[in-house]
Amino acid sequence: MPERYFTATPPLAPRHGGRLREAARRYGRPPEDFLDLSTGINPLGWPVPPLDEVHLRRLPEDDDGLIEVAAGYYGSAPDHLLALPGSQAGILLLPRLRPPCRVGVLARSYAEHAHAWRMAGHTLIELDTLEAAHALDVLVLVNPNNPDGRCWNRDTLLALHAQQAARGGWLVVDEAFIDAAPRHSLAGETARPGLFVLRSTGKFFGLAGLRTGFLLARPPALARARAALGPWTLAGPSRVLTRAALADHAWQADTRIRLMRDAARLAGLLTRHGLPPQGGTALFQWLRHPEAPALHESLAQGGVLTRLFEARDTEDTPSLRFGLPGREPDWQRLAEVLRPSLA
Ligand SMILES: Cc1ncc(COP(=O)(O)O)c(C=O)c1O
Repeated sequence: MPERYFTATPPLAPRHGGRLREAARRYGRPPEDFLDLSTGINPLGWPVPPLDEVHLRRLPEDDDGLIEVAAGYYGSAPDHLLALPGSQAGILLLPRLRPPCRVGVLARSYAEHAHAWRMAGHTLIELDTLEAAHALDVLVLVNPNNPDGRCWNRDTLLALHAQQAARGGWLVVDEAFIDAAPRHSLAGETARPGLFVLRSTGKFFGLAGLRTGFLLARPPALARARAALGPWTLAGPSRVLTRAALADHAWQADTRIRLMRDAARLAGLLTRHGLPPQGGTALFQWLRHPEAPALHESLAQGGVLTRLFEARDTEDTPSLRFGLPGREPDWQRLAEVLRPSLA
């Protein structure tokens, strides 16, 4: 498989979905009139209870029980967990814990990883498939992958980790989208040296604005990460609400079932409109289509925001990612807007 080597020129920061205000300006429609399907955030997220003001007034404390509840949720030991202000903070932190080295990332994946490692002075190697991963110091994977939904099972990942660890290397697995179907998670495996797992409460719990995430790894590596972050990394309201969400097993069980059903419904809706998705997860569907840019534009004109991925080169096909609609009127609206978009 061909490998592409990045140049030393610092790249622009990656762009993301969810820029509703920007879309409002561009399409001349108020933000609340958009159906925003441009992210993979659960639209019917964990129901947030009223917050005691004390959490805004006092400094947050680390021994508030958050880590113990998180350890139960992730199936890990408390001393293998570090709370982060979003898993994005871990994405930025990990490259600073190693001297410059050779880092492999998948070519079509969440762009923040490559960006962070490159910005920290590492040599990036873009891989089209995992089979091309060899002689790397660090291998970074997103499981399931964003945006195409590719998944790797535990055995494959543990074998890859063993390969990396044998040479003092790392395997970093970003599991931001794994919560709806976590059976291939490596969160419970971080006693293994050189294994780093990132988790987010933004997607499945629909709490992206809280900015909570976790890094799971062995205690010595976490101690270095903790020292790099300093005190009070997570705001008090984020700590208390995350703890409650992670402890709400009944909501989690119901939500897993609902998301699977809604994912199948979204795939079915797109297929009926002649747009069968090529991949996806419980939280989004991914569609490669030569007309993706025109489709994106026409949906946005109709008030439905999707995430467009431009073709990477002349041999690539552009693609669209559709997040899940939430309430019934949102489903109707998507169906209505899809119809003329294809005319
Ligand atoms: C694959 C992946 N990892 C991590 C993140 C960052 O999530 P957060 O910082 O909200 O936890 C995102 C956000 O879109 C993502 O798609």
